[in-house]
Amino acid sequence: MRKAAWLILVTLLSSDGIGAQSWPESAPDYAKLHFIDKLMRQMTVEEKIGQLRLNCIGAQSPREQLLEEAGASTLGGIFYAVGRSELREFQDAALRSRLKIPLFFAYDVIHGHRTLFPIGLGLASTWDTDAIALSGRIAAKEASADGLDMVFSPMVDIARDPRWGRASEGWGEDTHLSARYTESMVNALQGATLDAAGNVMASAKHFALYGAAEGGRDYNSVDMSLPRMYQDYLPPYRAAVKAGVGAMMLTYVAINGIPATSNIWLIRDLLRQQWRFKGLVITDFNAVAELVSHGVARDGREAAMLAIKAGVSMSMSDTYFRDELPGLLQSGAVSQKDIDDAVREVLGAKYDLGLFADPYLRIGTAKDDPADINAEHRLHRAQVRDVARKSLVLLKNDRAVLPLDKTAVVAVVGPLAKSRVDILGNWSSIGSSAQAISVYDGIAHALDAPNRLLYARGADVTGDPLVLDYLNAPGANPADVEVDPRSPTRMLQEAMDVARQADVVVVVVGESRGMSYEGASRASLALPGYQTQLISALKSTGKPLVLVLMNGRPLSIGVEHQLADAVLETWYSGTEGGNAIADVLFGDYNPSGKLPISFPRSVGQVPTYYSHLNTSRPYQADAPRAVTSRYFDEAYGPLYPFGFGLSYTNFSVSDITLTRQSLKRGEALGASVVVKNIGQRAGGTVVQLYIHDISASISRPVKELKGFQKIMLQAGEEQVVHFNLSEEDLKFYNAQLEYAAEPGEFSVMIGLDSREVKQRRFELL
Ligand code: NOJ
Repeated sequence: MRKAAWLILVTLLSSDGIGAQSWPESAPDYAKLHFIDKLMRQMTVEEKIGQLRLNCIGAQSPREQLLEEAGASTLGGIFYAVGRSELREFQDAALRSRLKIPLFFAYDVIHGHRTLFPIGLGLASTWDTDAIALSGRIAAKEASADGLDMVFSPMVDIARDPRWGRASEGWGEDTHLSARYTESMVNALQGATLDAAGNVMASAKHFALYGAAEGGRDYNSVDMSLPRMYQDYLPPYRAAVKAGVGAMMLTYVAINGIPATSNIWLIRDLLRQQWRFKGLVITDFNAVAELVSHGVARDGREAAMLAIKAGVSMSMSDTYFRDELPGLLQSGAVSQKDIDDAVREVLGAKYDLGLFADPYLRIGTAKDDPADINAEHRLHRAQVRDVARKSLVLLKNDRAVLPLDKTAVVAVVGPLAKSRVDILGNWSSIGSSAQAISVYDGIAHALDAPNRLLYARGADVTGDPLVLDYLNAPGANPADVEVDPRSPTRMLQEAMDVARQADVVVVVVGESRGMSYEGASRASLALPGYQTQLISALKSTGKPLVLVLMNGRPLSIGVEHQLADAVLETWYSGTEGGNAIADVLFGDYNPSGKLPISFPRSVGQVPTYYSHLNTSRPYQADAPRAVTSRYFDEAYGPLYPFGFGLSYTNFSVSDITLTRQSLKRGEALGASVVVKNIGQRAGGTVVQLYIHDISASISRPVKELKGFQKIMLQAGEEQVVHFNLSEEDLKFYNAQLEYAAEPGEFSVMIGLDSREVKQRRFELL
């Protein structure tokens, strides 16, 4: 679409949508503007361009070179360096420069810094914004205590294709849930004011639509209609902006043909003009250079020009801004204003971070540096254990095989049972695997009787040379898949022998953490290696079988689900993962996690998101042979639906009571249910509210989450759970991109997952 057409669409947006009018300009900070103007008047062109560069120590920029550039004020910030003394050296160099402009320091702190929290999908499984905020506060505290000013977090890309390894990092498939989490995380990381030592600037990513890369193949392109973009994929980024996020990192991918890094519409029109974003726009690693691979720039010179003109403020891992912008400016291809606008944003971020007032705000003084950076007291074990427990999702529990008896003989089996590396997950910042608790460790602590704990490895995560070659390639990050020299048969045999001596078998299977990571897309969603054979072999012993899954994406585990008596999804649960898992396995904690992403039965079903459209011929459960929209060679629907998760107790949900049958604009409609704990023990669950617009100008999803409440009930206790709906909850972007609720009939659905719901209808007048 041509720019002019875009602008018309932008002005068409109604006052409540993602449109410009909804986003009033905030009052300017005149002191800040004055300070920056004054500084910029003193800066040379080289110094200005230097501010637009965010580099890390590496082959392209050796440490000595970065120190030199810091000293010459030709560098804006550094990422991937950490630790107060290390960062102090760079800051000292910057403060020796002519204008003493401080550097800022950034790092990938995605789910914790020293204390590793569950990965994004795990945090998202808590359905608990306070838990997410707690993880963010602790990450900010630990990262800032190590001298960092900015974190490349939160990752808010909606992901509906589990083949994409980076689905692990985000909040899952749902727009509403992701937007709520994003807001909590940004607020938690940034605190009340960014210029406080314990707060860090958040850099939400990857703007925009990275999770919609075709086929789940990383870096692949996105082609998407505007209504879908606005309705489903953009709200989490917008939530970040609304929460005042300081920076936004761009995605690598091309959106409808135009890479984000050179996408004027995305950065200037949508982000800056419509959403009034005032912060930093940072490219992803090397993304300016990659405009050449995208085929939109002939060379680095054109790439640098396109990026700066599109509104990029900082180039990550840069050489082209440094090498090409001076010439581009001289030739007139880039204007002084293009550069000045970007410089103003970088200096503004440093000002907001309090770095002009105190460049050592987070680095502190040498005398206060921690004697041991890995000291135990620097961790937040109690808090992470609690959040990790909340992130565990019980997917099956036949014959109440869980919780386990602490006097039982337990065989712990599986390639991931003793792993302290995998349990930390990908992007584990500087968390130390030596400080992590494996599942085996956690069970050992809980049993406190070494003679009742048996172990066998049973299988490798993978023995596939192709996969190992990728995951363990020299320099691969992380390169940590271990292979047992014994044959698969020998390992299976040993596992069966061990299982026969036990009362119950806990088998810890899944993916090594490198399998759910950047660049780690999978064509299969099966458990890799001989793990399924291991589960079958263990089943054949006749012992109760508990599957503990450790993985960064939904897996197609229909067979394993049938074989196991109980299935617990643990994702990568972090530093205290093993203890948290043991808490749930032995019933010291009653699980309450719910899936933030659907589990397909097979990879061919992807995408399996719950909020799909009805189609012309929806599947008919009561006429399964009818010619409908389904795969005839696969059972219909996901293996585990979005929002699903069991408890050790049971809950009943009453029919829905509505406060009115019809809703006028400006009014509220109350929808409530009575939820009762009908089991024997206290437990928590998440009450979820969905809506469906029965007939509208465009086909609307069969269900859309609009609210959720996490509740705790004692055995026998009941609670009225009340939701308020308003016109706002019924709005959507129509084909003309107008954001409005259309009159007519709606369904409201309430349940404890997205499949089993109570339903009532009402009308919007
Ligand atoms: C590339 C990744 O896409 C991004 O998420 C990360 O923050 C940067 N590299 C920096 O490590």
